[in-house]
Amino acid sequence: MEITKSSYVVTIDGPAGAGKSSVAKRVAQELGIKYLDTGAIYRAIALILAKSEIKPDAEEFLREALSEIKIELKDKSVLVNDFDVSSEIRTPEVDELASIYSAVPAVREALLGLQKEQENYGSLVAEGRDVGSVVFPEAKVKFFLTASPEARAKRRYLERIAKGKEADYDEILNSIKQRDINDSTRELAPLSVPDGAIYLDTSDMTETQAVNFIVDRVNEALSK
Ligand code: DC
Repeated sequence: MEITKSSYVVTIDGPAGAGKSSVAKRVAQELGIKYLDTGAIYRAIALILAKSEIKPDAEEFLREALSEIKIELKDKSVLVNDFDVSSEIRTPEVDELASIYSAVPAVREALLGLQKEQENYGSLVAEGRDVGSVVFPEAKVKFFLTASPEARAKRRYLERIAKGKEADYDEILNSIKQRDINDSTRELAPLSVPDGAIYLDTSDMTETQAVNFIVDRVNEALSK
């Protein structure tokens, strides 16, 4: 007897600030499935490692610390050792820290299992940098969402202003460019378009257009 799996995974990879998070959340909502923000996991780990003053190149200390850190993903929050870090991980400092620590092999290895495991709890939209290539290579549909650095910097800038936070466009643009270089030139799991992924440049698209495009492609794939 053939066993058919009714749950499925949709992956959305892409560079910083391409609008992946907002798009992925809405896609998950429209499809009525879970949303997995893998960047939040990397951010949480980077925050705790930096707070513990464990340097990215201190491999032995890193491995030991990673084996002791407990990360839990709740519906809308990330807990590290039972402590909710959801808002603390959304700062420019943690942007940088996550970019640095996520390039460390021991960190990626430690977080792989936690990410893969999420598939056991039902269908999901996973968003990150390597979810279509490394974490869920068998995903039902894969997307690579991107936009020009300027379009991404403008969105980040407007997002921060809307939240009443301070923002400097040039600083954001430089930081995005630097993170692109870090994320795409690192040795392990560099940012790349996964095999079989649908490439979507959203520079001139609204968020709703991107969401509708993705939902349509997923529905098409599901109906085959
Ligand atoms: O998407 P984000 O900005 O929240 O991601 C934070 C950092 O984590 C970013 O520098 C890239 C890294 N990351 C990664 O290496 N692999 C993932 N699957 C998700 C995020």
